[in-house]
Amino acid sequence: MNFDTLKPEVKRILDRSDLPTDARLTGVCELLQSNLSHYDWVGFYFANRKDRTLHLKAFAGEPTDHTIIPFGKGICGQVAESNENFLVPDVKAQDNYIACSIHVKAEIVIPLFKDGNNIGQIDIDSHTPDPFTNEDERFLEWVNEKVAEIV
Ligand code: SME
Repeated sequence: MNFDTLKPEVKRILDRSDLPTDARLTGVCELLQSNLSHYDWVGFYFANRKDRTLHLKAFAGEPTDHTIIPFGKGICGQVAESNENFLVPDVKAQDNYIACSIHVKAEIVIPLFKDGNNIGQIDIDSHTPDPFTNEDERFLEWVNEKVAEIV
């Protein structure tokens, strides 16, 4: 499935007001992970600004030990501070990186803004080297905008 086909599916899941927010977010993670071949792990982290930590709220893929990540640590923690998209074509080339699985080759993290504040992020791990493009960025920014409407 391509990004344009997935968008209405993402909307349909997020509009399920009969489901709790976490279940809807998990549904989006599962949708992306099962329909995009280069998305091997998909998760949403949300920030606790007071503690300066990120907390895993929903995911699809292998369970991770990294359910709480301090700001500044790893790719995710850096995005919590930079407010910018972070594309990592080769995780081995990163010094400040938290490994979740030996199979991961690349990662993309896109901040999630609500009312102009960076409140969290979507994180994708890929087993494919250098798979992410501008198209992934635009699609994931769109996903985060839709998620911001329900959190
Ligand atoms: N690799 C991330 C940690 C989260 S896992 O990918 C699930 C990082 O460096 O922040």
